[in-house]
Amino acid sequence: MRRLIPALGLLALTGCDVPSEFFQRMENQAKYEYYESSEFWADGRAMRTPPEGTIPREKAVGNPGLSTGRVNGQPVAAIPVQVDKALLQMGQKKYSIVCAQCHGVLGDGNSIVAENMGLRLPPSLLELSNRPAGHFFNAITEGYGVMPSFSGELNTQERWAVVAYVRALQAARGAAAGTQPVPQENR
Ligand code: HEC
Repeated sequence: MRRLIPALGLLALTGCDVPSEFFQRMENQAKYEYYESSEFWADGRAMRTPPEGTIPREKAVGNPGLSTGRVNGQPVAAIPVQVDKALLQMGQKKYSIVCAQCHGVLGDGNSIVAENMGLRLPPSLLELSNRPAGHFFNAITEGYGVMPSFSGELNTQERWAVVAYVRALQAARGAAAGTQPVPQENR
């Protein structure tokens, strides 16, 4: 682009027609094609693994359930991303950073902030297990009453991760002693 602008300026000054290839530079420029090799990366591959938590644009666009938590104005019932250990770990981390100071580490609403809050208190999230997954996603995304939006702190994938972790907290509260699965590393 840096070279294109003076070149275009010069052409405009001299009154010449601008050749169409100037506008096709992205198509014509040097670039890697799928599965090509590259000396730039240590593993010799030009194709890179997307950063963790990346959601392909095609998945979010045209998929309002994923990007907004609502379909036809109604909150989606289930979490629309794959819930696995990695997602729950991300959710636990983000919940601890962004939500726990108000809603409590266990999600039960017991926190120092809650004890000292003058306005409406952060509710226990454990009592809300009958609410659809989209309800939690919407509360995080848009805010809820006096609670602000946390869409600046958490991207789409991280918000669903937090919803998944809130579901895990809710499930843990209701589980009878001894019914929890034994973690892999303790087997
Ligand atoms: C600064 C304190 C604070 C933080 C941080 C916070 N919340 Fe809240 N949250 C509240 C308060 C207070 C309410 C109740 C708002 C009201 O009723 O006006 C609330 C309401 C909610 C509700 C709606 C409850 C209902 O009755 O349906 C959900 C869901 C929720 N929070 C989830 C979260 C999650 C998840 C996070 C982290 C991403 C979070 N909150 C972070 C204070 C907080």
